[in-house]
Amino acid sequence: MSPPARIVLVGSMGSGKSTVMEILADRLDCPGLDTDRIVEEREGLTVAQVFAAEGEDMFRSLELSALEAALAHGAPVVVATGGGIVETPAARRLLEAEPAVVHLRVSPAVALERIGSTGSRPLLGDDPAHALAALEERRRAWWAQVAGAIVDVDGLSAVAVADEVLSRLEVAA
Ligand code: S3P
Repeated sequence: MSPPARIVLVGSMGSGKSTVMEILADRLDCPGLDTDRIVEEREGLTVAQVFAAEGEDMFRSLELSALEAALAHGAPVVVATGGGIVETPAARRLLEAEPAVVHLRVSPAVALERIGSTGSRPLLGDDPAHALAALEERRRAWWAQVAGAIVDVDGLSAVAVADEVLSRLEVAA
């Protein structure tokens, strides 16, 4: 089977989407895009600064526009999305229409270990363990709705996750 034109990675913060996107883009010799980075480049602010200055609703609208730009990019391409992209109904509709959306599924405990206390994730607040579990609960059905494949990433290296994504999509790289 030939590689899909676009691979889109969804999943929680700490699931490794950006790292896996880079590995996949390298393997497939194609561009890799990240909706968080697109927002940051366009705004000249970090994601945390956008949340602080403009609020979550504005961030979601910028994130949707970043997703639209990423999906309009010439193919092939690998796109990493922010963990909350599925919060936006229009983003879910775009993702549902994509043939190769892969959910990198991570447990909240492992996500927490990976995120550490970087302070760069505005939604985690004072109790990151609780916040991550609540977000996972809230978003689980949305990830199932938009993703055609799931890779369970707990205990896997980013390279192993990338291999698994390619094998699920039946791409030889
Ligand atoms: C968010 C996830 C973050 C970033 C923002 C909000 C979320 O992206 O978009 O902090 O709502 O889960 P990562 O999943 O790349 O950390």
